[in-house]
Amino acid sequence: MRELSGKVAVVTGAASGIGRALALRFAAEGMALMLADVDPGGLAETAHQAGDGKVLTQVTDVSDAAAVRHLANRCFGELGAVHVLCNNAGVFQGGRMWTRGEEDFAWLLGVNLWGVLHGIHEFVPRMIEQDTEGHIVNTVSVAGLFTTPGSGGYAVTKYAAMAASQALAEDLAATGAKLRVTALCPGAVRTRIADSERVRPAGLVTTPTQDEADAREWVGRAAERGIEPAEVADLVVAAIREERFLVLTDPRYAARLRLQTETLLTGNLPPYQ
Ligand SMILES: NC(=O)c1ccc[n+]([C@@H]2O[C@H](COP(=O)([O-])OP(=O)(O)OC[C@H]3O[C@@H](n4cnc5c(N)ncnc54)[C@H](O)[C@@H]3O)[C@@H](O)[C@H]2O)c1
Repeated sequence: MRELSGKVAVVTGAASGIGRALALRFAAEGMALMLADVDPGGLAETAHQAGDGKVLTQVTDVSDAAAVRHLANRCFGELGAVHVLCNNAGVFQGGRMWTRGEEDFAWLLGVNLWGVLHGIHEFVPRMIEQDTEGHIVNTVSVAGLFTTPGSGGYAVTKYAAMAASQALAEDLAATGAKLRVTALCPGAVRTRIADSERVRPAGLVTTPTQDEADAREWVGRAAERGIEPAEVADLVVAAIREERFLVLTDPRYAARLRLQTETLLTGNLPPYQ
């Protein structure tokens, strides 16, 4: 989809980081926006920064199907259409595979996988019916392409989000729909991802362990050294224009992906960091 001006974009996780940068970039392109997040203060700040264009906000927990349905109803009802859907909301929790409990996995899967699946289920049928060009951007991660010790739970959810993105793209192509898909797989980006606990639902209890704290610290340091969210937003806009499926934020990830595939084909465990 080459022309973005005058079109409608929906961004989840829009109160911070990559989601905020996407919102501001789309606003600069002259798009109308629907911004969703669990953080009302951050959403209001993003809307304020987005300026004078048409910007709506909706407090939405993307792990809740009814909340995402309500979001879709507002978008199609009040903005008339949806052309770009960014299933971007996500949370991080680390820890060894055997130390994380059911409620840790429930939280990660709820936001990082069900958030994407609910977005697909509630928006895509109406975007197909709309019969215009459109694009779905799922924020996955390089953690959806290769695993890292101490972050297995996050990788489980991101591998699943990657599969959902690829399968969605295949289904749309197989049925001749005018919609395209991008799987956004950034490495480290300077955001608040290491502080995801701030939005963890109180009812989903966790057991603090040293390996979990170590992983959070490691991801925090990586994020601090990461690229700016605005650079990611530029890559996303280019991917929408060029109908690119996979977006990597660093060419080294392509080499690592190649090495992983070659090593797997020898029957061995790929090298990890
Ligand atoms: N920062 C990185 O290094 C990095 C790398 C790869 C992928 N990602 C992915 O990028 C996406 C955006 O994260 P970010 O780095 O901007 O982090 P961030 O913490 O700055 O922003 C994430 C946003 O998601 C929101 N959110 C959390 N749970 C939610 C829920 N249940 N419903 C709705 N919104 C919810 C948060 O309130 C926050 O505004 C995530 O999917 C993350 O996994 C981040």
